[in-house]
Amino acid sequence: MNFNNLTLEKKENVAILKINRPKALNALNTDTLLELDNAIDVLDKDQDVNVIVLSGEGKAFVAGADILEMKEKTASEGREFGKLGSDIFRKIEIMEKPVIAAVNGFALGGGCELSMACDIRIASEKAKFGQPEVGLGITPGFSGTQRLSRLVGTAKAKELIFTGDMVDANTAEKIGLVNQVVSKEDLMNSALEMAEKISSKAQLAVRYSKAAINRGIETDIETGIEIEKDLFGLCFSTEDQKEGMNAFIEKRKPNFKNK
Ligand code: CAA
Repeated sequence: MNFNNLTLEKKENVAILKINRPKALNALNTDTLLELDNAIDVLDKDQDVNVIVLSGEGKAFVAGADILEMKEKTASEGREFGKLGSDIFRKIEIMEKPVIAAVNGFALGGGCELSMACDIRIASEKAKFGQPEVGLGITPGFSGTQRLSRLVGTAKAKELIFTGDMVDANTAEKIGLVNQVVSKEDLMNSALEMAEKISSKAQLAVRYSKAAINRGIETDIETGIEIEKDLFGLCFSTEDQKEGMNAFIEKRKPNFKNK
């Protein structure tokens, strides 16, 4: 596939998708968002891809939604733009395959929001996170008010959103915004290592686990446990469950088929 503002490569069963507008610090304009939407659809259907690593080219992950594009928008155009980004990020969040954000630099506004739509965030020690929107006269618009508060709690989310302050990677880890902080040089290897480990497991079980966590966290625990019960039961209709358990008993490595 040819993209103007993205790069896509594959390493075995892992896809590495990068936002590639380094001159604008990978700011998300409509064209880039539409390409991202398209790329996610392609990767979702690609049977050879188990895990996606999302990152940015150059010194930024994503420095936000494109301010030049937003500047002259009317209220309804602003709403539409917010819907476009939020819909794509929700698609990433609920897609079956796991997505790891490898946050290489600035993850601000829409960039922080994009990283939060991913399942796991690994940050370079150079990364910086923030929701600076109120300094531009807007609220976060790609679901940041919702995901930041779910990830770090309402008090910290309100502090970050009301002040617009940036936090460094170590602070982001301390407040639960990122899973792991590594050196700049180790970032891609660490993300790929985790992606390959996930890719070596039974993929249907990984995907059902993602669905159980995502769906369960938005409901009461009784309903969440029901969701888990159903998905746990469904695992027993897969070939990989038989293979995983037989391999354990036969003391060998499993050979999963994603079936
Ligand atoms: N939109 C459009 N262009 C952007 C951009 C953005 N969000 N962020 C950076 N750029 C552009 C700059 O305008 C600059 O372009 P020129 O070279 O043509 O002037 C280029 O990228 C490099 O940026 P800087 O020269 O500013 O780089 P720096 O290293 O001095 O500063 C920065 C880096 C602190 C990230 C600074 O660029 C910055 O503050 N960017 C804006 C961050 C921001 O406010 N993000 C939120 C956007 S609103 C949003 O995202 C809404 C939403 O929730 C949907």
